Parts: sequence; C-alpha cells; structure tokens
Amino acid sequence: AGRADLVRALDLIRDIPDFPQPGVLFKDISPLLADGAAVRAVVDAMAAQAGPEVDLVVALEARGFLLGAGVGYARGLGVVPVRKPGKLPAVAHRIDFQLEYGTATFELPADVLSPGARVLVVDDVLATGGTMEAACELVERAGGTVVGVSVVLELAALGGRRRLAGRNVHTLLTV
Ligand code: PRP
Repeated sequence: AGRADLVRALDLIRDIPDFPQPGVLFKDISPLLADGAAVRAVVDAMAAQAGPEVDLVVALEARGFLLGAGVGYARGLGVVPVRKPGKLPAVAHRIDFQLEYGTATFELPADVLSPGARVLVVDDVLATGGTMEAACELVERAGGTVVGVSVVLELAALGGRRRLAGRNVHTLLTV
C-alpha cells in the first residue's frame, strides 16, 4: 500500500457530533475499517512505524483490538488484549482511569506478558491520553517495557501527547 492509499484511508474517518454525550465530537473509524484497501494501508503503516525492537503487541478494547490484531499479524507478533472489567478469567493487574467523559477500568490478562517484553501498545484514537497512559502503566506493572504507542488518529487539542511525555508516540494523522 502506498502513500495515496493511506491518505485515502484516513479520509474515511468521519465526525459524529454529540456522541457518546452532547458536546463530544466522536471520531468514527468504522468506514475505514470496512474498506479492505484502507484497513490494509493503515495496519501496514502502523506495523512499519513501530521499529524493529518489538516483542509483543498490546491492544486496547475495543477498537484497538481490530488494529492491534492486524499489526501483530503483519509483524508476526503475538497480541495481548487489555480489557474492560469482568471479561478476563485471570487478571494480572487492574487500573482505574479518567476518560474525557467519565471513568473506566482496564485489566491485563495473567501469564501472557513476560517480564522484559518490549511492547507496542495499539489503539485507534489518542484523545486525553488517559486510556493509553493507563494501558502503559499496566504493561509496566507486569514488568514489560513500552517501546512505543501507536494510534491512527491523535486529537491534539486534548493533550494526549503531553500526558504521554517521554513515550515514543506514533500517529498516522493528527487533527
Ligand atoms: C476511545 C478510543 C480510545 C480512547 C481515547 O475509546 O477508542 O481508546 O477513547 O480517549 P482518551 O485518550 O481520552 O483516553 P472508548 O472509551 O470509546 O472505548 P471503546 O473503544 O471500548 O468503545
């Protein structure tokens, strides 16, 4: 996939006003994910950006799963899902965090992240960075090293990059 495919793919992201709450402008990647050439261009670009020193992909519920699985496949790496509470039968670590709208909890599955693993954390959107920072904290509690975080879209006004200061942040599009 070339640069033109990637540009076309990112152009498929659409704005949905007032979701999930009034005043929030939701960035919907569904049309991108539904387009075969677009999803390939995006996943390939995320896989290429990450650099060679990655042992494992950690993907964030829910849309991060779709992208993280692709990145793992493209790189021949395993994927660990970070999940919302109550889904995992065996939990290594749990963290509560703030969202732009409300609070949330993430859990890391037990026994799948080896201490010392070099991890790429994948999600769809970086907004306030609360979600990504919580996921990085979980990886580090398990003894992993976050070598990069990768998202399709960064909403710069919400300050996620500041929140992740010192981390290696890869984005395909910043608005
Ligand atoms: C969205 C998005 C990111 C997160 C970014 O997830 O998919 O995970 O918000 O926001 P932040 O940088 O301000 O933390 P959402 O909470 O909608 O959950 P979902 O993917 O399970 O629907």
